[in-house]
Amino acid sequence: MATKITNSDLTPSKIIEYLNRYIIGQDKAKRAVAIALRNRIRRRALPPEISHEIMPKNILMVGPTGVGKTEIARRLATLTDAPFVKVEATKFTEVGYVGRDVETIIRDLTEFAVSMVRKKMLLKVQAPALERAEQRLLDALLPRPEKKFQVHDFMRAFNASLSGEKNQDQEQDQEQASNSEQEAQINPEQDARHERTRERLLKMLRDGKLDSRDIEIDVNDSVTAMPFFASPGMDVMGINITEMLGGIMPKRTKKRHMKVSEALRILQQEEAEKLIDTDAMAKEALDLAQEDGIVFLDEIDKVVVKNGSSHGPDVSREGVQRDLLPIVEGSVVQTRYGPVKTDHILFIAAGAFSGVKPSDLIPELQGRFPIRVELEPLSWENLQQILTEPENSLIKQYEALISTEGTDLIFTKESTEEIARLAHKMNSEMEDIGARRLHTMMEQLLEEISFSVCDMETESVTITPEMVRERLSGLIENSDIRRYLL
Ligand SMILES: Nc1ncnc2c1ncn2[C@@H]1O[C@H](COP(=O)(O)OP(=O)(O)OP(=O)(O)O)[C@@H](O)[C@H]1O
Ligand SMILES: [Mg+2]
Repeated sequence: MATKITNSDLTPSKIIEYLNRYIIGQDKAKRAVAIALRNRIRRRALPPEISHEIMPKNILMVGPTGVGKTEIARRLATLTDAPFVKVEATKFTEVGYVGRDVETIIRDLTEFAVSMVRKKMLLKVQAPALERAEQRLLDALLPRPEKKFQVHDFMRAFNASLSGEKNQDQEQDQEQASNSEQEAQINPEQDARHERTRERLLKMLRDGKLDSRDIEIDVNDSVTAMPFFASPGMDVMGINITEMLGGIMPKRTKKRHMKVSEALRILQQEEAEKLIDTDAMAKEALDLAQEDGIVFLDEIDKVVVKNGSSHGPDVSREGVQRDLLPIVEGSVVQTRYGPVKTDHILFIAAGAFSGVKPSDLIPELQGRFPIRVELEPLSWENLQQILTEPENSLIKQYEALISTEGTDLIFTKESTEEIARLAHKMNSEMEDIGARRLHTMMEQLLEEISFSVCDMETESVTITPEMVRERLSGLIENSDIRRYLL
């Protein structure tokens, strides 16, 4: 499994080492993002006078379809400790998205940062939260003496488990309980006794002796979602209607039955939430988003207009570029946690640019992506590596799937080479769809086995180069069927 690299470990070579586990080749792109990520950490280490002057060097990744652009973005997301969002530029050409909606990118980034900071803060307050949760649980198990002293009620309820450890104290408790009922008054002695019982109960709780008991507690009713209000447009000003109304309406609690162990867990989370300083959280998150934030703008070529001829849908595409401009150049976006300056956010854009060129982007936007990296088309050797080497490679995925039926699926080196060669051949004779070709070919190759494996008694199936040729070359030679195969 992928181990999460922490910030200090994020050296360019470590980043590349990590990316190499999933992505074959594309060294130039990997180097560019590795350097960009490292530069963020370097900038953070500088005094503010200098660090404010250092603008991120945004990256434009250009390369044919299916060669790993989006895959690099996906892997970066799991690698960095920074707030990261990935959006398709085409999203903003859809009907209903106009003008300032691109600002939602920054709002999403901020939400991400908030959830990162919240998680970190929650972790820090777990110990005090547990103590508070225990106290709340004790209150529920053994209500504090108000007018009426109720220890005996509790004693009755818990007699079974306490009977083993009965001592004088408890017998006294029971004796005097009846007196106290008549008195209907709290006296210091009762108070002390109550405290002792509480302590005993706390010890039992901590020892896990109460874990499997049922209890009824008041828990916060999770904020009822209001789908009726929650249309995407409502977020435009960074206002969350649900939250707004939630603030007006009284907090609702619900009585729920559960085991003591679960109740403790839930109350601990509730208390942890309460212990968080939300102002400090928002401040830290805003800072994190604007200083460390990374935005991956995928499919940027899809909002490019050829030769500047703009009418019809082209207008909206070029509109998206214009909308993006202020964000990429540096502006202030309002979010519900406060304003976010976008000057230092790192933008990585990617596109296949098959019919259009990066120079067809509006000039202002081009200027904001000083680093251009080209991703290479995939050779058949690359395809073979992609098939076998990455930690989540297609071959490993299919082997794992089929193994659940008690059958080992075995690929020889020769057979994976054959698949890669055929994939490459199809890519060069038909449309080049890069590594995506492998997905359709593997599905085709294993269709028969995927279907019949449950009825087979064999312990293993070996895929030979002959099988590959037999199952796939027919498709390659038959142009009619080929049309239906991606
Ligand atoms: N160099 C590579 N190494 C490993 N896997 C790859 C590589 N290139 C592509 N793939 C695999 O092929 C599939 C498509 O790749 P990806 O989504 O990165 O394409 P893309 O470059 O973004 O193409 P498009 O321009 O069409 O968006 C993914 O499943 C990915 O894992
Ligand atoms: Mg892509």
